Amino acid sequence: MPRLLKNCNNFSDLRDLARRRLPDPIFNYIDGAAEDEVSYRRNTEAFENYDLVPNVLAGVEEVDMSVEVMGFKIGLPIFCSPTALQRLFHHEGERAVALAAEKYNTLFGVSSLGTVPLKTIGKLIDTPKMFQFYFHKDRGLNSAMIEMAKEAQFEVLTLTVDTITGGNRERDLRTGFTSPPRLTLASLFQFGIKPVWALNFLLREKFELSQLKDHVQQGSNIAISIGDYFSTMLDQRLSWDDALKLRESWNGKFCLKGIMSAADAKKAVDIGADAIMISNHGGRQLDGSRSPFDQLEEIVGSVGGDIDIVLDGGIQRGTHILKAMALGATACSGGRMYLFALAAAGRAGVEKALDNLSSEIERDMKLMGIKSLSELNSDMVRAR
Ligand code: LAC
Repeated sequence: MPRLLKNCNNFSDLRDLARRRLPDPIFNYIDGAAEDEVSYRRNTEAFENYDLVPNVLAGVEEVDMSVEVMGFKIGLPIFCSPTALQRLFHHEGERAVALAAEKYNTLFGVSSLGTVPLKTIGKLIDTPKMFQFYFHKDRGLNSAMIEMAKEAQFEVLTLTVDTITGGNRERDLRTGFTSPPRLTLASLFQFGIKPVWALNFLLREKFELSQLKDHVQQGSNIAISIGDYFSTMLDQRLSWDDALKLRESWNGKFCLKGIMSAADAKKAVDIGADAIMISNHGGRQLDGSRSPFDQLEEIVGSVGGDIDIVLDGGIQRGTHILKAMALGATACSGGRMYLFALAAAGRAGVEKALDNLSSEIERDMKLMGIKSLSELNSDMVRAR
């Protein structure tokens, strides 16, 4: 098991290092998913149902790993999905992920449950940024967040559509994980055996949910589980009509995250979305839902060419990305793929995660005999 970042060669090494550094409830919040975690496991296992078919003697010395998604040319075919609570995982929080994403010229998402203000991120990096929007019951809060995203010049607004109620995350029930962390005897013990994390958490700038704190205390000053946050604060009546209104009120690019069916993908096209992220929220919401990769062909068959299709979830290897692109994804994205790295070593960790993936993609492209990702097509993968 690696103790040093430089010895982390892959996702699993970074996950191990994160586990060493984080208090157990926080590690399990990232690592956990809903109920039996069947969808979570399947998200990665699904890639093994397909095999790559390389072409050789193609003379590939240089490769171009860039793709265009939502009108932005990004340097890697994978970007950092928006994820919550980053400053709990490492004191640098979203700043670390933003700077690492900028270094690799890839897209980066900030969550409504983010821990650094949008305007700080807006000033920090020049590469494209996505604001992930949770549709709250509190309409004043919704408008305020959209304004913040506009003022901070975020290019993409992403509405998450799979969280109208909290997933049944039994690891969080077991550990009592809340935001902010509740200081119970058991959690204090966990924090005590991870003193570096605990000192950083206690002595650095105060933890907050920056986008929400002026409107709601839950999450910043009042401890709440993420499941309860979704179930009590978000609007369960969220509809296609609301999504359309949101699309119309936003001048930039608009994306829906959490689309799983071809029928919904068509509706996303109808409301004028620029992209969908095929996602089951990392298996954290509806356990037993199909994996994004298993749904990809069907969705590409139905809306491919009409809208950008981002495959979100389960990605741990460069070959996973090539398989998704061969089946028609525009780009890929991931949360845990950089979150363990963030927890392991902040900005340097996220850079290492992106560097590992970038080296794998480059090597895999050479071994596949392609100079550009646009050369990938469905003849280069076979179902087992
Ligand atoms: C989660 C949310 C906050 O999955 O995205 O925990």
